[in-house]
Amino acid sequence: MIPDQVPKEDVFHGSDDLKKEAHISSFEKYKELYTKSVVNPDDFWGDIAKDFFWKTKHKGQFLQYNFDVTRGKIFIKCMEGASTNICYNLLDRNVHERNLGDKVAFYWEGNEPGDELKVTYRELLHRVCQFANVLKSQGVKKGDRVSIYMPMVVELVVAMLACARIGAVHSIVFAGFSAESLCERIMDSQCSLLITADGFYRGDKLISLKLLADEALQKCREKGFPVEKCIVLKHLSKETEDTPLGSQSPPAKRSCPDLQQEKQTGRIKKTHPVPQVPWNPEVDLCWHALLRGASNDCDPVWCESEDPLFILYTSGSTGKPKGVLHTISGYMLYTAATFKFVFDYQPDDIYWCTADIGWITGHSYITYGPLAYGATSVLFEGLPTYPDVSRMWEIVDKYHVTKFYTAPTAIRLLMKYGSEPVQKYKRDSLKILGTVGEPINPEAWHWYYSVVGEKRCPIVDTFWQTENGGHMLTPLPAATPMKPGSATFPFFGVVPAILNESGEELEGPSEGYLVFKQAWPGMMRTVYGNYSRFETTYFKKFPGYYVTGDGCRRDKDGYYWITGRIDDMLNVSGHLLSTAEVESALVEHEAIAEAAVVGRPHPVKGESLYCFVTLRDGATYNQTLEAELKKQVREKIGAIATPDYIQNAPGLPKTRSGKIMRRVLRKIACNERDLGDTSTLADSSVVEQLFQNRCFTTV
Ligand code: WT7
Repeated sequence: MIPDQVPKEDVFHGSDDLKKEAHISSFEKYKELYTKSVVNPDDFWGDIAKDFFWKTKHKGQFLQYNFDVTRGKIFIKCMEGASTNICYNLLDRNVHERNLGDKVAFYWEGNEPGDELKVTYRELLHRVCQFANVLKSQGVKKGDRVSIYMPMVVELVVAMLACARIGAVHSIVFAGFSAESLCERIMDSQCSLLITADGFYRGDKLISLKLLADEALQKCREKGFPVEKCIVLKHLSKETEDTPLGSQSPPAKRSCPDLQQEKQTGRIKKTHPVPQVPWNPEVDLCWHALLRGASNDCDPVWCESEDPLFILYTSGSTGKPKGVLHTISGYMLYTAATFKFVFDYQPDDIYWCTADIGWITGHSYITYGPLAYGATSVLFEGLPTYPDVSRMWEIVDKYHVTKFYTAPTAIRLLMKYGSEPVQKYKRDSLKILGTVGEPINPEAWHWYYSVVGEKRCPIVDTFWQTENGGHMLTPLPAATPMKPGSATFPFFGVVPAILNESGEELEGPSEGYLVFKQAWPGMMRTVYGNYSRFETTYFKKFPGYYVTGDGCRRDKDGYYWITGRIDDMLNVSGHLLSTAEVESALVEHEAIAEAAVVGRPHPVKGESLYCFVTLRDGATYNQTLEAELKKQVREKIGAIATPDYIQNAPGLPKTRSGKIMRRVLRKIACNERDLGDTSTLADSSVVEQLFQNRCFTTV
């Protein structure tokens, strides 16, 4: 399955220097270990498990699963019977057994240059223990769900690990999501407590997070799900107690009673306006006040391997987000192993993943994977373009970053400004570059490789999904010859296949559905509260396989190339959105009778949202309506889903049975006249009309 020979031409190789220190230094070694990992996964994962602490040993087979619905329930179990604590493994073990207490866990770099903090493993352990005690004092117990809605600050890591320490299940909601989205997620996971912050800056834009959190909690209350407690971190506001907060905001009802916390003081240097923080003493609790007097000693709660670790929501094609549930042991092994091999982790690395912790990339490759091996990471709050487009490279030089992991959308954005902003900085510390989120177009790949990495650094193009927990198809930096745009070959323990429409496995060069045949430890275990949705979404279409929903091509050399989603999902800036989710936000507007949303290729974002809307009788289409619709989608979902184009569509192309033909709408959005087979189209005059009235400018 993995080719014996890899091509000698038109491929790129890691440098000899890199090969010298690498864990996997040649393609032959990769093949050898790969074969072992799929023939005997128990041995392979058993070896990885030796790097961690187990309170009690597992019983029976290491990895057990059923992927075949015709044979009964779908399940995946890893190290059943073992007990451990992931927070203990990430922190206590590194501090007490590996002597890494003084090693920096995170260099926090704020939105504003000059705002910085560093946290060692020992400090992180103490802060996590303190906060775990706070959670306990608020009645949080093993198995309880806790929602976290926070900016990219060290306290976000503290909050998630404190949950893990006491066996509570975190559900992090990306701070770019709207109040409505937060409410939906809190209710779906039935969280008893919310952790948030006053606000944060994205570039020069203030995000008043607490106001959004309040709005979400109000909505929860109205829907009959009151959340009794909300812990608020003061990230921007000064910790001077009872005076009204916010130099430019109206006085708050009552401010958060706070204390001078050493680490907090002066964190934000520039004097920005601070957000308004209304205070509801019935619900709101001040992070800093709670920490006062909390002990930094907290025994970990020993959990079963298959106890839940976290829930993370991802878009689903029906429109309602799915709560992807990951469990403790398998996720720990998988994120640790992928982190070690894919970034070829070495103890002196300074590693930087630019993702937000609110997405799976941040969960797996800012928090869990790197901390598992005691790595030093940069945790960046800001934007690649603020205060200018050199910011990333300035940070690379400042901390001497060796391994850098970002998204194609960021690369394409920076590529627009040319090489000069990159070349202002040395970047000579860089050894390995990575990408994730969507297929990287060869042009962006070459720019990343030549300009950013100066042809010195291999690029690991990592294909994976929220559901997978960690990398699935990826080069290993010193072993795999790279082809620009291909995620190359499977990670250890991963067995991909390409199926045709009838579910037959295709051999050799071919194109079809990307599926996985065998379980791996990092696989999701269920959709929270909806097991049947889990089964239907991933296992019903082709019994015996996990279906990714992505199309894939295998070339003559055996390389895998992801061709994009084959369901009604859009990939905007590396994040999935469902067309149904956006459509339902649009039709909630009283003027809209029907909506259809398709993706249109976008030079930076990958895909942009092109929305067709049919008005109700009596409604008129104008710019006010456009602005309202845009606002509505932002409020329902968040800024990431903001429509780029909205077109008035008096009629939509439908089949005779009334199904919207999105394939045709995609062509209209791109102004491509070659529509293919339109024999099922009920009324073809609709199509011409839509071509005539295409949108040329973004709204
Ligand atoms: C979808 C998963 C996993 C972290 C970020 C996104 C697309 C992801 C690649 C890649 C081609 C990719 C797929 C996948 N995708 N990485 N390297 N090459 N496509 O997580 O929101 O769960 O999205 O992102 O379409 O199914 P997600």
